[in-house]
Amino acid sequence: MDKSLINNPFIVGKYLSDEYFCDRKTETDFLRKQIENGRNVALISPRRIGKSGLIRHFFNQADILEKYHVFFVDIYATNSLAEFVYTFGKEIYEQLKPQSTIWKEKFFQTISSFRMGFKLDPMTGAPGLDLGLGDIQAPQTSLDEIFSYIDEADKPCIIAIDEFQQIGDFSEKNVEALLRTKIQKCQKAQFIFSGSKRHMMTNMFNSPSKPFYQSAISMGLDPIPLEVYSEFAIQLFEKRGKQIDSSVIEDIWNRYNGYTWFVQMMMNELFALTEDGAICHVDMIPEAQRNVVMSQENGYKDILSNIPPKQKIVLQAIAKEGVANSITSAKFIKKYNLNSASAVQAAIKLLLQNDIITKNENSYRVYDYFFAEWLAKVY
Ligand SMILES: Nc1ncnc2c1ncn2[C@@H]1O[C@H](COP(=O)(O)OP(=O)(O)OP(=O)(O)O)[C@@H](O)[C@H]1O
Ligand SMILES: [Mg+2]
Repeated sequence: MDKSLINNPFIVGKYLSDEYFCDRKTETDFLRKQIENGRNVALISPRRIGKSGLIRHFFNQADILEKYHVFFVDIYATNSLAEFVYTFGKEIYEQLKPQSTIWKEKFFQTISSFRMGFKLDPMTGAPGLDLGLGDIQAPQTSLDEIFSYIDEADKPCIIAIDEFQQIGDFSEKNVEALLRTKIQKCQKAQFIFSGSKRHMMTNMFNSPSKPFYQSAISMGLDPIPLEVYSEFAIQLFEKRGKQIDSSVIEDIWNRYNGYTWFVQMMMNELFALTEDGAICHVDMIPEAQRNVVMSQENGYKDILSNIPPKQKIVLQAIAKEGVANSITSAKFIKKYNLNSASAVQAAIKLLLQNDIITKNENSYRVYDYFFAEWLAKVY
């Protein structure tokens, strides 16, 4: 066994390299083709399938790195144009920091509203950016400057804006139109917009009255096929002197419908539970599942503490049911001692809005499989 290998090869929550990333070859090629032909892409899929991972993987390809500057701007936590500009500008600076090009040197010259953030490290003398959110006094001016800066770039840029639907919730109402204009005029960059709120994303890109209408090629993302994932997982075990029954992988994949985050979390734990030289069997699944669910418990308690009692009752009923059909039927209401069909309707609406549950045709489930498990069995 090679001792230089990373200990647990099932990586969750970050991107390391090709070696720990399963497949997505077709999707990576699709992205490359769109970008090389001057098209922007709107990447839309349910949460936890692997959108951010795919973008990072695409950005890690040798040919892409050589030809382009790549920027990954995650705007999940932003609520206003000022926060957007702050996050965007910082990402550009951080990416360029290690380089010593003329373009990089022009950063503070062109983006003069960021100049006050220029700092020299007292120990090393290395330049850095130390800006506070409050320093963004005129966000539109800063945005203009950032786009002017991008247009001076020494090679083309690809800018991914992750959780793009967030701009629909910004306190200012004109951000969509403003950004659309900037992006359209920008000569040096192409964009990947990714998001998980299907309704908001498709509305932004597919409705004729919206600024971003037809400004990007839509792209969905399906789960990684079982056979492909299975081969990936087996070789990761084998490289580290362990083995896994293919029936374990099949069970996990089916349990979580191939949703990458849940599958990777379970495989990470199963790998940890398998002794060196041993074989991972199906009878290890319950313990792995218990461990994973319990490792998330604090987060689940936090979520629950923010859900009003009327929604909580409905949420738990859905969790206990697994996949819940006819939730406003007399039968379902009686089974879980719920109030009335209209009360259930009202609760469902808010739970959907807050991404706690998902709807597929007429059935509902708790979107986070581990949370569902915890609600049904532990809580
Ligand atoms: N092809 C892959 N191979 C191995 N692991 C992956 C792959 N794609 C994603 N992952 C892992 O799965 C997890 C979920 O992926 P990711 O964060 O990319 O999903 P997402 O669709 O962006 O989710 P969200 O909508 O919640 O942001 C990540 O922790 C990542 O490490
Ligand atoms: Mg993501």
